[in-house]
Amino acid sequence: MKVVIDCDDAALELKKVIVRHLETKGVEVTDLDYLGQKKGAYYPEIGYNLACRIKDGSFERGILICGTGLGMAMIANKVEGVYAGVCHDVFSAERLRKSNNAQVLTMGARVIGPELAKTIVDAWLVSEFQGGGSQPKVDQMHELERKSFHP
Ligand code: RB5
Repeated sequence: MKVVIDCDDAALELKKVIVRHLETKGVEVTDLDYLGQKKGAYYPEIGYNLACRIKDGSFERGILICGTGLGMAMIANKVEGVYAGVCHDVFSAERLRKSNNAQVLTMGARVIGPELAKTIVDAWLVSEFQGGGSQPKVDQMHELERKSFHP
């Protein structure tokens, strides 16, 4: 699985921790390091850049980290076909994949510490969409998204 990651200025340290953690586990992770190319960039363009790489199929899963995880989730969800959610607990991280089939996990570096963040990433990584009763709900979300993007 190809995982892509990025963060804003509030989460540089946590991003490093997560990249190291994924590499240790043998997960192929690409750090887009948007801030390295554009100093002072705000979270919307950083999140948008990553979400576009999910949309174009370059990566299957993405992790976005900012101060709260909120802004990153909001902007990633603005890209058609990309679904993101903030998770600060393991149960939500599992459900984000199993129930919601979201490709992008967001977290807040000002909300949780590195150990919990690693555990959340681990749970999210091994979880897959389960279909079943969640399928029509996800289908409905896609249909409403189509109406919204293509009125
Ligand atoms: C800081 O720029 C803060 O607004 C950002 O990291 C994030 O928490 C936004 O949702």
